[in-house]
Amino acid sequence: MRTQVAIIGAGPAGLLLGQLLHSYGIDTIILERQTRDYVLARIRAGVLEQGTVGLLEQVGVADRLHRECLVHDGVELAFGGSRHRIDMKQATGGKTVTVYGQTEVTRDLMNARATAGLATVFEAADVSLHDFDGTSPRVRYTKDGASHEIACDFIAGCDGFHGVSRQSVKPAALEIFERTYPFGWLGVLSETPPVSPELIYVNHPRGFALCSMRSLTRSRYYVQCRLDDHVDNWPDGKFWDELKHRLDAKAADTIVTGPSIEKSIAPLRSFVAEPMRFGRLFLAGDAAHIVPPTGAKGLNLAASDVHYLSNALREFYVEKSPAGIDDYSRRALARVWKAERFSWWMTTMLHRFPDTDAFSARIQLAELNYLVASKAATEAMSENYVGLPY
Ligand code: APR
Ligand code: PHB
Repeated sequence: MRTQVAIIGAGPAGLLLGQLLHSYGIDTIILERQTRDYVLARIRAGVLEQGTVGLLEQVGVADRLHRECLVHDGVELAFGGSRHRIDMKQATGGKTVTVYGQTEVTRDLMNARATAGLATVFEAADVSLHDFDGTSPRVRYTKDGASHEIACDFIAGCDGFHGVSRQSVKPAALEIFERTYPFGWLGVLSETPPVSPELIYVNHPRGFALCSMRSLTRSRYYVQCRLDDHVDNWPDGKFWDELKHRLDAKAADTIVTGPSIEKSIAPLRSFVAEPMRFGRLFLAGDAAHIVPPTGAKGLNLAASDVHYLSNALREFYVEKSPAGIDDYSRRALARVWKAERFSWWMTTMLHRFPDTDAFSARIQLAELNYLVASKAATEAMSENYVGLPY
């Protein structure tokens, strides 16, 4: 079997890359380890930058998004017992964010790929990458017990943090930058109306909390928890009580609680692997970097990576120029590190750390009070949250 670009992973990065390359007339195949339903069962974040929405529009996969999404002009920060709205639309001259679950983005992209008749192999096992240091890379996998090999021009490693692509690179060729955080996020999904029209990020002495949503009838809530905690320690009633402890009085009094339809604990990590290109192998999305979810950047960074990569490959095939692929890693990393900084800043400002002493707590409150009172600080936060330009 032969293709121009073999894509490993059918998450948002792989699927969006596949659609972008298809729009440029570039042939791809996607190899995905899991089943379609397994991929779609993952609960992930749901805040899209305008650039991400623009890419989905570019490949014609934004119709349902525009029918069902919520457009938010701002977010709220709660600390010291009160809430402060950040008017991001005003601070950025009109930019907003779009609330639409990553699961739905993935579903829409999968449906578009199937409708276009593009090749996706689900349950592709034992994927291995070969000869990407040369000009004739190959990918091997097994399916239903049969071995297969794909000859290709390029491999796009879109297989996430635990994928095979980054692990196929000689360790000496990689430089890793990492920060792990000494706490997790306990998340609950509920068929209840959101407590507020916009997201609320909470700094509280008991720990961080976040009030988010998927629609006007489906809410997503998080409380910071111990890294070694377990969902079995958090029956619904205990979760709702703890969340209310961390919310301001109005939110605590008006929140509509209900049974959790999903409950999970996720660790927080900042991670970057440099570079993002190894001969004919490119890394994109979580395969190359991880951000703590506080800044809602994970999906949006996957989108900007594949924006750069798809344009680079278009230049190679259509304009016969290697300039884009030669510059991909530098260009993608420039934006990745700005999002890493923003996500780290939001995380350190809003969470309780084990070494958060009285001084650190005052510094956090000073940062938050400055942020909500300063036009310059509000503009700086807003332009990062809505998404820096590509
Ligand atoms: N072979 C084939 N597929 C694999 C392999 C492998 N060895 N390892 C992982 N995969 C698949 C996973 O099953 C998953 O479907 O690669 C896909 C990677 O998707 P994501 O982990 O969603 O990563 P990405 O597409 O970069 O999207 C990043 O997803 O996880 C969230 O928070 C993250 O919002 C961010 C976004
Ligand atoms: C979510 O809705 O899951 C969400 C929103 C914003 C974040 C993180 C997660 O910063």
